[in-house]
Amino acid sequence: MNILAIGDVVGNPGRRAIAETFSQIREQYSVDFFIANCENAAAGSGITPKIADEIFSMGVDVITMGDHVWDQKDVFDYIQKHERILRPANYPREAPGKGSVIAVSRDGHKVGVINAVGQVFMKPVDSPFAAVKEEVARIAKETPVIIVDIHAEATSEKIALGWYLDGQVSAVLGTHTHVQTADERIFPKGMAYITDLGMTGPYRSVLGREIEPVLRRFTTQLPSRFGVAEEDVKLMGVLIEVDHLTGKAGKISRISIDIP
Ligand SMILES: [Fe+2]
Ligand SMILES: [Fe+2]
Repeated sequence: MNILAIGDVVGNPGRRAIAETFSQIREQYSVDFFIANCENAAAGSGITPKIADEIFSMGVDVITMGDHVWDQKDVFDYIQKHERILRPANYPREAPGKGSVIAVSRDGHKVGVINAVGQVFMKPVDSPFAAVKEEVARIAKETPVIIVDIHAEATSEKIALGWYLDGQVSAVLGTHTHVQTADERIFPKGMAYITDLGMTGPYRSVLGREIEPVLRRFTTQLPSRFGVAEEDVKLMGVLIEVDHLTGKAGKISRISIDIP
């Protein structure tokens, strides 16, 4: 089966990128399952129920999140009720929502998706290694097709998680930095890997935000509000071919599509 995963969807430009390209991408690459990291979908910060509904209606099967998951308070209830939107699995057990889900692909196969955040250069959380391992053990009883979104800052932590999970999951895909890396590959035991999927949003920006206010903050250290930028919109991520019987990935290809 063919799985499409895209990196951090930022604001209205990011959502527009999905709306304007997905039906064509689905046809061209016969996409069976679509995962989108949407932690920045609502004006750059978090997601609202209305925006999540809109993204699901565009054809996204599972929404993963990250450190911005709680930025919009309306999501607390929504995430409790909607199992195909995930918060990091290594967040406190008492937090609303879940860190993994098993959904069904368009070609009728079960796909497990797990979301976790890193510990390095990020807010204190439980180990993503332990949390993901626990989720994998549970999901593997139902399906060999398992995709992990590791939302983390440090390249080392993401690569280490890749080696930790090779042979047990279909893919480990990094998000959070908003910069696509060129290290996509298949690990020795058949797991697809990339350190970062990149951003789905405006590239004439600093990680999706307007350049001027970010420059002002860096040069003066005065507080300033970062609006979402608008120009040079791209959709970025990877396409993965996975054998639904073994869960092994045969191929991973980076994609970057310009949105007019
Ligand atoms: Fe992000
Ligand atoms: Fe993030």
